[in-house]
Amino acid sequence: MNESLFKADTKVFGQNLCVFDEIDSTNKKALSDMEDRFIPNGTCYIALRQTKGMGSYGKTYEANTKLGLWLSVIVHEPYMKNPLTFVPAVAAAMFLKDCKVHAHLKWPNDVLVNDKKISGILCQAKTMQGGTNACVVGIGININQSENDFSSEVSNIATSVKIITGDEYKIEEVFKKFIKYFEDVYCGETPVVRLWEEHSLMIGRVIRGQKDGKDFSAKVSGITKEGHLLIETENGTEELLSHGAVDIYRDYCYHK
Ligand code: BTN
Repeated sequence: MNESLFKADTKVFGQNLCVFDEIDSTNKKALSDMEDRFIPNGTCYIALRQTKGMGSYGKTYEANTKLGLWLSVIVHEPYMKNPLTFVPAVAAAMFLKDCKVHAHLKWPNDVLVNDKKISGILCQAKTMQGGTNACVVGIGININQSENDFSSEVSNIATSVKIITGDEYKIEEVFKKFIKYFEDVYCGETPVVRLWEEHSLMIGRVIRGQKDGKDFSAKVSGITKEGHLLIETENGTEELLSHGAVDIYRDYCYHK
């Protein structure tokens, strides 16, 4: 694999590269390398194909074709931008905007277009050989898939840049643009939560989810600087949601 094709115009992120034609999971490889040795900040693991992509909540993530960007980024100071998971989400939305694709960020970690998932994010913390605390920021972006490239399990809920624009993209060019936005967002002065809010349609929407094992529905009234969702429950109390998956209600009218 010609790694020089992936050389990005960045200072740190993507300057150290590990590119694989095929691997089980870039997150898994990065985590195991970090057990063995010191991995420099900003190192990127890219796979053209993943045979066992890792998704959130222990699920597998469909990345077994060369049609997407499958990437893990090593971040040594995960607390510099809080929450770190918003950095790849915002960078993905910015990259997609360049392709004329209008993405919507769904809390906590999804990037949607027309209510279908175009990108997923999985951040995993790790203490490296030598004691450095770091995070593996895994991101998948669906790029060149046609509808029939997705399995029947995800074809109704997934989309790609090609499905929306009709155009095909070189994965190395996608990486270079994406990682530049990633670095700009991570190093920039604007709080990432503010950037996330600009690309999210969640504020004011009614969601349903689970909290402390119980189903709830509530209106999203805001987001805290830590990236927790402020929700207004049906009985009028304000609560904070710090983790967990939520669904956004469509065609639902919320009455206080
Ligand atoms: C999710 O939406 O469930 C999270 C998906 C994260 C997928 C990416 S693809 C690159 C990196 N390597 C993995 O094994 N997973 C992440």
